This record gives sequence, C-alpha cells and structure tokens, in this order.
Amino acid sequence: MVMASEKPVHFNFPEFKHVVVRDRKGEEILIRQYIHEKDREKLIEMYETYDPDYRCLGLPPISRKAIENWIDYLAENGFAIVAEKDGRIVGHLVIVPTEDMKVDLTIFIHQDYQNRGLGQEMMKLIIDCCKKAGFKGIMLVTERSNTRAIHVYKKMGFKIVAPYYECDMYLDLTEQQDK
Ligand SMILES: CC(C)(COP(=O)(O)OP(=O)(O)OC[C@H]1O[C@@H](n2cnc3c(N)ncnc32)[C@H](O)[C@@H]1OP(=O)(O)O)[C@@H](O)C(=O)NCCC(=O)NCCS
Repeated sequence: MVMASEKPVHFNFPEFKHVVVRDRKGEEILIRQYIHEKDREKLIEMYETYDPDYRCLGLPPISRKAIENWIDYLAENGFAIVAEKDGRIVGHLVIVPTEDMKVDLTIFIHQDYQNRGLGQEMMKLIIDCCKKAGFKGIMLVTERSNTRAIHVYKKMGFKIVAPYYECDMYLDLTEQQDK
C-alpha cells in the first residue's frame, strides 16, 4: 500500500502491451498502461465514486484534493495499469520501486467491477512485467480482515510475512524466474 510520503526511486519501466480480457460476466475489459496526462481526470472520477466501505488502510483518500495528491505522487514515482470499460477507468494497479529492486504494489477495483476476475488478471500482468523488468520481489500491505484481497494475493503466490492488523505480504520473484 503506497502512501504519498515514501522516498521515491526512479526506474524506467518497459512498455506495457495492452490486452483485452473477458471478465466473469462475459464483458470485454481493456487493460492498458495508465498515462497520467491523459487519464488523470478519469482516475480521479473512479476514486471520487469509490465506495468508502471498500477502503483499505485509509485508501483511497476521500476528498478530491487528497485523491489528487495521492495519484500525482503515484504517477510521479511509479508505474500503473488500468482496467477500462467504455472509456471509464474501473481498476487501477500501481507499483512503486524501492531502493533494493523491489516494488510496492497497490490495487483498487471499483465496486461495480469487483469479483469479476479483473484483480487477478491485473495482478498476473504486473507480476509478469516485474519479472521482465528484473525486480526481485513485490511487497504489499493489506488489512488482516481483508479476506478477499488476501485470497487473491495468496492465489498469485504471495506469502504473509507479518500477520498483524496490517498484513504484510511478499512475492519473491527470484524463486519464480523460470515459471
Ligand atoms: C481485493 C481486490 C483488488 C480483488 O480484485 P477483484 O477483481 O475483486 O478480485 P477477483 O474477482 O479477481 O478475485 C476475487 C476472488 O476472491 C474470492 N472472494 C470473494 N469474496 C471473498 C471473501 N470475502 N473472502 C475470501 N475470498 C473471497 C472470489 O471467490 C475470487 O476467488 P476465486 O478466483 O478463487 O474464485 C478488489 O476486490 C478490491 O479492489 N477490493 C477493495 C479494495 C481493496 O481491498 N484493495 C486491496 C487493498 S490492499
């Protein structure tokens, strides 16, 4: 979970090739690279309409100003992909590199599109992308009560490394080079 306060590390990410996936309702969804200059307003819209019941560890922020600060920080320091349906952003996954060649991952799927397989599709794509870019591992933090997120992360191979209220999870990519 990336807050807008961590020390940035700059990294040139390889180009992300867009894909169209079919979700569990049979709808086609585009997953593509997020371009901040073009997509910023659409992403703000996703977060302004995000149901607070699905916030995790205080994110996404609620006020427009705080959303703007958060996504500007993420765009400045990270690399993101989005799920898009009919021009509307319905999912956002961002990775921010750390000094030791790992990344910190954050993902939010809009409540209208949760439980349709999009989170898993986006995770698979970004894991592949991180392997290709040579990162050693992916870190994330969720809440221990967020059983759905933990289920998805475990399915992707993440292990729990600190099982407190804030549940830290890690995917070691060095063990996965040949997979
Ligand atoms: C967590 C989140 C990213 C997952 O993305 P998603 O697109 O909804 O997830 P998917 O549809 O790909 O997969 C959901 C899986 O969880 C399972 N699931 C659903 N509700 C569940 C629950 N309450 N407990 C455990 N598993 C649950 C589904 O059966 C499915 O698993 P399966 O493929 O084995 O059947 C998304 O739901 C989300 O944004 N949630 C709110 C914000 C959040 O928690 N973000 C993570 C912050 S760390």
